[in-house]
Amino acid sequence: MPTMIKVNGKPREVDVPDEKPLLWVLREDLGYLGPKFGCGAGLCGACTVHLDGQAVRSCITPINAVGSGQVTTIEGVSANPVGKRVSEAWTEIDVPQCGYCQAGQIMSAVALLESNPSPTDEDIDSAMAGNLCRCGTYHRIRDAIRKAASQKTAGGADVR
Ligand code: FES
Ligand code: FES
Repeated sequence: MPTMIKVNGKPREVDVPDEKPLLWVLREDLGYLGPKFGCGAGLCGACTVHLDGQAVRSCITPINAVGSGQVTTIEGVSANPVGKRVSEAWTEIDVPQCGYCQAGQIMSAVALLESNPSPTDEDIDSAMAGNLCRCGTYHRIRDAIRKAASQKTAGGADVR
């Protein structure tokens, strides 16, 4: 039976088994290739997307758990002012190396700054601890999050 989900602000219909992981619905059925498959077990963060603004591991989120929630992927994150600011900071700091983990890193960073606009270094490390980077870009990730947070401080309130 077809299921309706909302992805990046658009309603989409999919006809997939109830337990199919959101990651594979996004990649195989809807063509969103930004969320990546890493471990498939909720341990690396490569597949991170937002469900109603919360960072979730889409590889372990069955499609029937999404319900009427709003799914946001890296392809849609820049429509959000915080997402745009974080994406720009990522580019300015030149964070990625191979890039494989970076969509998940950005999604976790945006969720952090949405809930905590001025995180401490400890807050950043705690929020990002579940996102692994085999290339070791952790220092640049922290710098980009600090830069995005400081721009919020300098620029005042985001308009949504
Ligand atoms: S692929 Fe989902 S957490 Fe690793
Ligand atoms: S940039 Fe290569 S795994 Fe993170």
